[in-house]
Amino acid sequence: MIELVNVNKDFEASNHEINHVLKNLNLKISDGDFITLIGSNGSGKSTLLNTIAGSFPVTSGKVLFDGEDVTNLKDYQRASLIGRVFQDPSTGTIGDISIEENLAIALKRGEKRTLRWALKKEYLATYKKYLAPLNLGLEDRLGDKISSLSGGQRQAVTLLMATLKKPKLLLLDEHTAALDPKTSKKILELTKSLIEDNHLTALMITHNMKDAIKYGNRLLMLSEGRIIADISGADKTKLTSDDLYKKFDEAEGVE
Ligand SMILES: Nc1ncnc2c1ncn2[C@@H]1O[C@H](COP(=O)(O)OP(=O)(O)OP(=O)(O)O)[C@@H](O)[C@H]1O
Ligand SMILES: [Mg+2]
Repeated sequence: MIELVNVNKDFEASNHEINHVLKNLNLKISDGDFITLIGSNGSGKSTLLNTIAGSFPVTSGKVLFDGEDVTNLKDYQRASLIGRVFQDPSTGTIGDISIEENLAIALKRGEKRTLRWALKKEYLATYKKYLAPLNLGLEDRLGDKISSLSGGQRQAVTLLMATLKKPKLLLLDEHTAALDPKTSKKILELTKSLIEDNHLTALMITHNMKDAIKYGNRLLMLSEGRIIADISGADKTKLTSDDLYKKFDEAEGVE
């Protein structure tokens, strides 16, 4: 389980004004949760993910992984526990090197061995096995440079890389926002099956209300750094986009 206890995150602007982004945030993520996270631009969604990943130090509060206090661990110290996919398909993979080399790097994560073992012939079959179900033909293009792939193909490889070592938590920050609707759906379905097949715990940011309702077992709504809705199970299944828009308006004081 992952737990945030009274987490506050402030940023100081160049004019020394303090921006209180996360406000006394408490959150328990149970093993196996697939959470969708929605909220207006600037509500603190990415900051929340960065806080969990350790990319930003918290201003106050605690972050616990299975009861262990990781608050002061930097992101690279938590990296073996966390897989991440961002909005920009050019992040997450290395464009200049091949699909195979990228997968080898993902496989090596958290291992002390050199890269060479992950590039051995025996792993070729493994990489092909992972790539084939994507139905993108990438299993026959292992030697191709990542930069020669489309954004959707690249996000698919990134997802695979982020889940290859079965992280304790998968963090997805609008990872389909740059993709066309059809590709976006494909990547979301791939996300779902990777999470289910590997029994992963995941937190996915999206601006698409329908996707937020359709995917996962739990939905969180963030408004001005506070969780204003935490809906799971049957209540989540019953939700409509209209319900969510209404909640946004209520939170933002719109009549
Ligand atoms: N590295 C940073 N330095 C300073 N301020 C930051 C930093 N990252 C985020 N902020 C501020 O924190 C607030 C929340 O930003 P955040 O990126 O978490 O929002 P978001 O909910 O992810 O929005 P969006 O939907 O636009 O991605 C914003 O006011 C932003 O300016
Ligand atoms: Mg964001």
